[in-house]
Amino acid sequence: MLTQSKTVLDAIVPAVNPIKPEFIVHGGDFLCGGSSFDLPWTTYLQSIEDVATTFADFEAPMYCIPGNHDSDAQQGSFEAFAERFDIPETLTVVDAAPRLRLALANIYHQCDPIEDGSGVWTDTLDNALREEAEKAYEEGHAMLLFLHAWALPSHEEGKGTLDGADRLLKTVKESPAIVALFTGHRHTNRIRMYRDFLTVDTACLIGFPMGFREVQLRDNGYFETRFHQLPLPALIQESYDKSSAETNNGWNGEIHDRNTEILLPRLREIWR
Ligand SMILES: [Fe+2]
Repeated sequence: MLTQSKTVLDAIVPAVNPIKPEFIVHGGDFLCGGSSFDLPWTTYLQSIEDVATTFADFEAPMYCIPGNHDSDAQQGSFEAFAERFDIPETLTVVDAAPRLRLALANIYHQCDPIEDGSGVWTDTLDNALREEAEKAYEEGHAMLLFLHAWALPSHEEGKGTLDGADRLLKTVKESPAIVALFTGHRHTNRIRMYRDFLTVDTACLIGFPMGFREVQLRDNGYFETRFHQLPLPALIQESYDKSSAETNNGWNGEIHDRNTEILLPRLREIWR
């Protein structure tokens, strides 16, 4: 699908703006650099410009975290990317809406994204998150955590999750301000309640199911979400046809991995 990336890129902003979100979060992998893609340096720089220029048309503020494919393919550096995208050095916290705080984690701040594609949950990130979550709780703010790679394992323990995921989950478990964590990286829609917090994994824009997730948090503590596919049916079909139905179903997730309503006990407690 990489040759069709311009078509996909051009379809994103017109699909998102009419929803009128209060804010947008991109979970990383804006580009096709880093591991897996031998993207030439000049193409990498041009891609950064193309994406930055296109996303400047979002009407809502956009927050972002880096993905492993946002570094250049030769050195694994995020330097050029960070010049155009405001990515966290380690953990950045923003007040994105009333009583709602976002924690944006850079899981590649201490590793090579080419070698460690799923990132590392470091001492720095863990200490900063604990401190910020405690502050948020004291101030009556709910917190959403965003990081690029999965924290909650799927079929095999440790496979496809970030290094140090157990430690991160322990911290989230012990930080009642954190109501949900949002991840991407694996191109799969999945929503799981674990204990009293939610993990929300979202599939990708560049291949099937080719969409993004709208989320609403209600005052009564309900989380509502809907997955929107880009209005590119022929391209979505073309992408679908490259894999088996079973594989595509895995990426798309079950219906309730895309569209659902769940009561978040932590959110209800903080926002009551
Ligand atoms: Fe990724």
